[in-house]
Amino acid sequence: MKYARVIGTGSYLPDKILTNHDLERIVDTSDEWIRTRTGIAQRHIAADSEMASDLALNASREAIKAGGIDPREIELVIVATTTPDMIFPSTACILQDKLGIGDCAAFDVQAVCSGFIYALATADMFIRTGKCRTALVVGAEVYSRILDWSDRNTCVLFGDGAGAVLLRGDEQPGILSTHLHADGSQSKILSAPANICGGKVQGKPFVVMEGNTVFKFAVKVLEEVVHEALAENNLESSDIDWLIPHQANIRIIASTAKKLGISMDKVVATVDKHGNTSAASIPLAIDIAVRDGRIKSGQHVLLEGVGGGFTWGAALIRW
Ligand code: UT7
Repeated sequence: MKYARVIGTGSYLPDKILTNHDLERIVDTSDEWIRTRTGIAQRHIAADSEMASDLALNASREAIKAGGIDPREIELVIVATTTPDMIFPSTACILQDKLGIGDCAAFDVQAVCSGFIYALATADMFIRTGKCRTALVVGAEVYSRILDWSDRNTCVLFGDGAGAVLLRGDEQPGILSTHLHADGSQSKILSAPANICGGKVQGKPFVVMEGNTVFKFAVKVLEEVVHEALAENNLESSDIDWLIPHQANIRIIASTAKKLGISMDKVVATVDKHGNTSAASIPLAIDIAVRDGRIKSGQHVLLEGVGGGFTWGAALIRW
C-alpha cells in the first residue's frame, strides 16, 4: 500500500458554550479584546463527567460511520492529547475499549498543539510500510481542566473538543508527505509546568505562556514548514485548495496564509467558534470542511500546526 487515504472524518464539541461575554464576568477582559487579538468569540467546555476519551469516542464513532467500516477492521488507534483521562493507561487504550475494537496497537502521542500532525504522520508511516491497513487518528482535549481561570492571559484562549480521521491504505494518494519538527530549547515559552510525586502535584498544573514570544515563533516556523511541504511535492501555493491550520489565533492563521499568497477564502478557520482546542483543532476543522462540502475529492489540502515543546509540523494530502 503506497498511501494512506482519509476515508472518514468525525468531530465532537461539548454542549456547553462559554462566550467572551461570559468570560467578562470571570476575569478582567472584554469581548472586543479577545475578538481583535485572537478572533475567538466562543469556546466549548466539557461537562465535569466528560473525559478526553468520551470526546474522542463521539468523534471516532462519526468517523467510523462516515468511513463505512466495521470498527473491528481498525488495526491502530492513536490519540493526540495533552489532557489524557489519567496518567495511564493511555487515552487511546481507553478509547479502543469504549469502541469495542479488540486487539490492535493503541497509544497516545504528546506533542501538544502539533499532536494531531504528529499522530497523523505516525499512522501514515504504519500504513505506508504495510504494518497496518486501517488506522484511527484522533485529537481530543479537555483543556478547560488545565487552565487557571483567574489568568486572563490564557483562560480566554482555549476550548475543549475532539476530531477524528480514519485512514486506509490505498494505491492512490492519500497523504503525500508529512513534516515534523521540534525544538526543546523553547520548552519554557509554553508549558503546564507540574508533575505528580508521592501523590501530590508538584509545580503549577496550568497552562503558562509567553504569548507574544509564542506568536512570533509560530509565525516563523509555520511559514518554513509549509514551504518545506510544498517543495517536497513540487507544488506551488497556488496548487493548494484548502489550508487547514492549527486554530490558535486568527492573526497567526492570516499571517501564514498571506506569506503563502493564499487568500482567506481558501483557509478553513474555526477559531472563532472553537477557540484553541490544541491537538483537536485541526481534525475538528477538517471534519467541518468535509461535512459542509468545501473539501472535495482530488483537492490538495495542507495541514499545519505548532505548539508546546516546541513542536511544529505539516501534512500535505490529496483528498
Ligand atoms: O496553540 C499553541 C500556540 N499558541 C499560540 O499560538 C498563541 C500565540 N499568542 C497569541 O495568540 C497572542 O500573543 C495572545 C492572544 C496570547 C496575546 O496577544 P498579543 O497581541 O501578543 O498581546 P500581549 O501578550 O502583548 O498583551 C497585550 C496586552 C497586555 O497588557 P499591557 O501589558 O500592554 O498593559 C496584557 O496584559 O493585553 C493584555 N491582556 C489582556 N487584556 C484583556 C492579555 N490578556 C488579556 C485579556 N483581556 N484576556
